[in-house]
Amino acid sequence: MTKKIKPSDLRSRSWFNNPEDSEMTALYLERYLNYGLTREELAGKKPIIGIAQTGSDLSPCNRHHVELAKRVRDGVIAAGGTVIEIPVHPIQETGKRPTASLDRNLAYLSLVESLYGYPIDGVVLTIGCDKTTPALLMAAATVNIPAIAYSVGPMLNGWFGGERTGSGTIVWKARELHAKGEIDDDGLIDLIASSAPSTGFCNTMGTATTMNSLAEALGMQLPGSAAIPAPYRERGQMGYETGKRIVDMVWDDVKPSDIMTRQAFENAIAVNSAIGGSTNAPIHLNAIARHLGVELNNDDWQNIGHKLPLLVNLQPAGEYLGEDFHRAGGVPAVVGELMRNKLLPNPDTLTVNGHSIGDNCRDVEIANDKVIFPIAKPMVKDAGFLNLSGNLFDSAIMKTSVISKEFRDRYLSNPDDPNAMEGTAMVFDGPEHFHDTVDDPALNITENSVMIMRGAGPLGYPGGAEVVNMRPPSYLLKQGVNSLPCIGDGRQSGTSGSPSILNASPEAAAGGGLAIVQNGDPIRIDLNTGTVMMLLDDETIEQRYKALVEAGGYNFPESQTPWQQIFRDLVQPLSEGMVLRDAPNYQDVAHK
Ligand code: FES
Ligand code: MG
Repeated sequence: MTKKIKPSDLRSRSWFNNPEDSEMTALYLERYLNYGLTREELAGKKPIIGIAQTGSDLSPCNRHHVELAKRVRDGVIAAGGTVIEIPVHPIQETGKRPTASLDRNLAYLSLVESLYGYPIDGVVLTIGCDKTTPALLMAAATVNIPAIAYSVGPMLNGWFGGERTGSGTIVWKARELHAKGEIDDDGLIDLIASSAPSTGFCNTMGTATTMNSLAEALGMQLPGSAAIPAPYRERGQMGYETGKRIVDMVWDDVKPSDIMTRQAFENAIAVNSAIGGSTNAPIHLNAIARHLGVELNNDDWQNIGHKLPLLVNLQPAGEYLGEDFHRAGGVPAVVGELMRNKLLPNPDTLTVNGHSIGDNCRDVEIANDKVIFPIAKPMVKDAGFLNLSGNLFDSAIMKTSVISKEFRDRYLSNPDDPNAMEGTAMVFDGPEHFHDTVDDPALNITENSVMIMRGAGPLGYPGGAEVVNMRPPSYLLKQGVNSLPCIGDGRQSGTSGSPSILNASPEAAAGGGLAIVQNGDPIRIDLNTGTVMMLLDDETIEQRYKALVEAGGYNFPESQTPWQQIFRDLVQPLSEGMVLRDAPNYQDVAHK
């Protein structure tokens, strides 16, 4: 590829070598020289590469990036660049109260300011834990300077009693065992801790593996980068290659908008179906797309993704974990298999290594067909999401591939139609209400209940709670009823295999239909027509909306921090990516 820009075109030059303002140049220089950088490194001739650092003691999943950044730095310097490491607002999925997803937009905002306001020519996005990946890709999208993503990699496989124990997925299992009285408190901790044997992100196909894989499918990571486990030697080597490559990308002026095109998002949706990706993926990819001005919505997820098969046999949908996925060929093997069957929508889209995704992956074979199934014998057919609607919401996502036969049989409204199910509403107002009351027999949750969670969307529970995969009460678990259908305006952890209807928009707190549903209402889920309805007559519905308005709308708790309130004032529905209202109006900001 021919070089498109000259040293005099470098963005950082207007800070460090501005002939029209030597005073400001001096001021900028003295403060960056003072930790030992030289005039040569800051002469405005070498690209200044930011390493957007998401690792810290607060973010254990990404902490290994603190070490890995040294290899990235070596690569940048070898290719003739200078490094400035940029701290990113920490996000840790399981430790942040009330929820980590509240901070996705905060990390996004802060990184936009860092990249826009400082002398950065290109950036390495250190990704990993769930929300770090979308936050950094969203910022790169808005600023639109050359950017390359670099995963921290999954943890090693977890083991307990000779069996694989996977991040998150084991938590749902351990909770069930604990609720049934089969393990005590210490047993619960030992079982859960076994799933996290090393540094890295969750080793299941949860939101982290999903988003890291999709960052590669979008073309934003070097091929094969997503799946290399964090402690493997190849992880550091990939860091060096990533550092080298970003310097060339600056000279070639390859920007996020050149890579994350509508075609690239279509590829990512296809890959998401094949890997069995998290239901958080539509939220985050729709958000990234909006910051680039690319049209993408939940109908695209159904239209492009639903008919594609599940190939990757990772927990929670399957058996294996991150190390196995890497050894079986990772994302390139999945893409190669889709391509050979003409199921990758756009093989010609550009990736960060300067080649098309098709050229990168065409010849990559599956190395272990127990872990990545061939298309001819998929794990599950039609494994992508459905986008449902009805009088409870305008849009909600369902992962149909995890609905069991036992489950369908229990709810069939017509024995000849396995896709039409009916049950009775059992409504919870937020996760605390659920946790405090679920085991109370007075609620009378039965095996025909449809569990409904409201007040858990981005407005009601700032950021949106991952709570829609609700377990049945312990008395039903003891009877062998391990799951009930769940509907909600919150989200679901990617590590949960529950067949839930999630991300319902508009949420109850914004006046959606979930705000008026009541315990005992008959609920019909019809996957043939893609509808979910509360079976109430128009008059009843009208009266309930009137009562809701008279009561001043759906009641939700007050904000606890300034950011929670600012977030609530600006946030858009989950179906539209949960972005801040005005943020998508600011595009390509480095070039304005
Ligand atoms: Fe951080 Fe899963 S909790 S990657
Ligand atoms: Mg999560």
